[in-house]
Amino acid sequence: MLLIDGREVAKQTKAELARECARFKDKYRRAPQLAVVQVGEDPASQIYLKNKEKSAAEVGMQSLRFHLDKENSQEELDSLITRLNTDAEINGILVQLPMPKQFSVEAVLNAMNPFKDSDGFHPENLGLLLSGRPRVKPCTPFGVMKMLEHYKISVSGKTAVVVGRSNIVGKPMAQLLMAADATVINCHSKTKDLKEFTRQGDIVVVAAGRPEFFDSSYFKSDAFVFDVGMHHVNGKATGDVNFKSCEDKVAGLSPVPGGVGQMTVAMLLKNTLDLALYQENHRLL
Ligand code: GUN
Repeated sequence: MLLIDGREVAKQTKAELARECARFKDKYRRAPQLAVVQVGEDPASQIYLKNKEKSAAEVGMQSLRFHLDKENSQEELDSLITRLNTDAEINGILVQLPMPKQFSVEAVLNAMNPFKDSDGFHPENLGLLLSGRPRVKPCTPFGVMKMLEHYKISVSGKTAVVVGRSNIVGKPMAQLLMAADATVINCHSKTKDLKEFTRQGDIVVVAAGRPEFFDSSYFKSDAFVFDVGMHHVNGKATGDVNFKSCEDKVAGLSPVPGGVGQMTVAMLLKNTLDLALYQENHRLL
């Protein structure tokens, strides 16, 4: 079985980004800058944000953290976003999700300049993706595509099954696979006979939010499986796929940890650098 090693692909992607950031610095006399917005105290988010900031530093990118707590209002969050939108030093903005439930994801994305949307979650960017002319691609699906490319797993004409239909993973994942000429089946929580569909997948991307739910009976033996789940069970990080059950029963599998998560961070930095270059070239601000 091919162990789809997100750490290794992310390492190579970040090495390439470090070279590109150095060229950016030479040319524009400053590093690309990412604004990282944390709302509330979600402990998992704290860890993800630390990873994002550490990786930004590794590639020579500047990151700045802004923190609002649950007592702050939506208006305060929107006005922070508006300030970052018009700050010429800031190239990319990331608002870590989930936020406390009194805050609206829709409102914060609407407030964001779509040319600074490092996550690719703004409706304009999702629309461009749907139209087949993406500006920034949501980081996790983009990371899965990068892993497919790295391991030369062919996509064209293959059956790809995506489990999950969120705006940040499932839907854009299905779109990117379709754009790469896969025949895509998009399953979700209301799908009946899920296994009947997942067993058809040459490529299966699992983002169902169900800890270790998928055992080997969900996949055919020549499937490449990408686990997008992220859970903490008994203090241990684990995914949606039962790794032990599937190990050596499928053609390839990305583990949790050490799989897709590493790629999400690398692609966030790639999006930020691409947006910085776009802003410099188009003198938007
Ligand atoms: N929460 C879970 N995944 C993500 C992501 O890719 N970006 C942001 N901003 N929040 C997340």
